[in-house]
Amino acid sequence: MSSAAAFNFHAMTEKLGICKALLVSGLLLWVIFVLFFKDPRCSNSKSFPLLRTETASSSNSTSTDTPSPTTLKHIAFGLQGSEKTYHFRRAYIEAWWRPKKTKGYVYLDRPPTGNLLPWSRKSPPYRINDDLSKLFQVVRPKDPVMPRMVHGILELFREEHEGVRWIVMGDDDTIFFVDNLVDVLSKYDHTKYFYIGYPSEFVLSNYWYSFNQAFGGSGIILSYPLAKALVQDMDRCLKTYASLSADLMTMRCLADIGADLTPQKGFHQIDLQGDLSGFLSSHPKDLVLSLHHIDAVDPYFPSMDRAKSTNHLMKAANVDQSRLFQQTICHHRQNNWSFSISWGYSTHIYEKIMARSWLRMPIETFKTWQKSPNRPHYMFNVRRPFGDPCEAPHVFFFQSVKKISRNEILTVYSRSASRNLPACASSGNHSAEHVSKIHVFSPATKRTEIHISECCDIVRVDNTGKAEVKFRECMADEIIA
Ligand SMILES: *[C@@H]1O[C@H](CO)[C@@H](O)[C@H](O)[C@H]1NC(C)=O
Ligand SMILES: *[C@@H]1O[C@H](CO)[C@@H](O)[C@H](O)[C@H]1NC(C)=O
Ligand SMILES: *[C@@H]1O[C@H](CO)[C@@H](O)[C@H](O)[C@H]1NC(C)=O
Repeated sequence: MSSAAAFNFHAMTEKLGICKALLVSGLLLWVIFVLFFKDPRCSNSKSFPLLRTETASSSNSTSTDTPSPTTLKHIAFGLQGSEKTYHFRRAYIEAWWRPKKTKGYVYLDRPPTGNLLPWSRKSPPYRINDDLSKLFQVVRPKDPVMPRMVHGILELFREEHEGVRWIVMGDDDTIFFVDNLVDVLSKYDHTKYFYIGYPSEFVLSNYWYSFNQAFGGSGIILSYPLAKALVQDMDRCLKTYASLSADLMTMRCLADIGADLTPQKGFHQIDLQGDLSGFLSSHPKDLVLSLHHIDAVDPYFPSMDRAKSTNHLMKAANVDQSRLFQQTICHHRQNNWSFSISWGYSTHIYEKIMARSWLRMPIETFKTWQKSPNRPHYMFNVRRPFGDPCEAPHVFFFQSVKKISRNEILTVYSRSASRNLPACASSGNHSAEHVSKIHVFSPATKRTEIHISECCDIVRVDNTGKAEVKFRECMADEIIA
């Protein structure tokens, strides 16, 4: 440093020579670059100099033979939002987003304003969607938002993402359950083409668009090689299918590459409206992966608004995602009661012994996404127990979660309202109206055998209104009825 300050004429001229050489070779490189690489933002995006991924850097054969387990750092999220909606939907994303752990971006149509600035550090960083007007000077999309959303896949892909194995596209009104997502995606080979997602719950949505597409709100998941193949010819894709909805456009373009949907239960488009509690209280035996359309349904918890509800749900989700919404059923023989617990969300008490085969059907508390005069409305069967004291449940909602010892978690559920029905007479007239709180004890270990139901015992029902339930594995010959 100080010696470099000493003036030396000879060294100076030498340096000038080197500088000249550098300048010339720099110019040459620049010319080569301009000739051979096009700016991905204005061209058909064939080159991605920034992108470094696992497959790109896997010249090391030992590391590709035994790939490391998939973790959160291998997943890149592209969340489609808009400047207008992000003001009130930011809370939904921030409820599940893990800054510095989750990778990805929120895509907006224009720069954020007002109380979105300064940009929240609890949010994913934002990007402004590319202007596609040049692309659509001849062919016009039916709705300009649709190609913008599909083009978002390319915009996410071209970002620098070291080691990315999966691209997950969602909306700003979607909650993703990222621990479960990691566990589910680990089971698929990220080096092969995979297009993963799930159809809508509403029959007509599938009929109108496709029974064979992933719905983008609940999640469109592409393995890295498939995303790479899709973005190669993104302009053709957007122009050819310009008249379609974004999800259908994606499906058609992927089909033309040779990839069809791999349906994965647990992604929930929620093409439903109103009270979702019936749906969330009888979740199928699959890890929950997403919940979309937060604004279309009532708040998940009736005593809270949507933002608070989402945060409240995540309290349970952050402790044990493997059990979240998993329905566990057991019976209290003295009173002829059935308990149905949707872990981390709700508990129902029925004043009658009911079989699991019946209780796993959702109660139709919700409404259809759009007017639909004729059944079937849904891709699943429903129950309508309303007004029948032997069929309608007493409803309790998740209140708190706590790890009480090294191997046990306590979740508490409290009564939301009086059932306003007499007791069920045919099963002995044992009213459950006095029960106000249910304590559920579950193992502190993640549940891996998710395709099999867990069982439980009613440990105690006391006169003060508290019931206690303890989870355990089912016995080999146990019948839950
Ligand atoms: C290849 O893998 C081996 C063993 O995992 C490691 O020691 C080595 O540094 C890797 N080489 C490169 C170039 O990544
Ligand atoms: C339970 O219900 C059955 C009818 O379903 C009835 O015969 C039985 O007496 C009831 N048991 C009690 C303890 O009330
Ligand atoms: C059921 O219980 C209610 C209230 O305790 C009582 O009024 C009613 O007579 C009972 N009905 C039967 C059939 O036992």
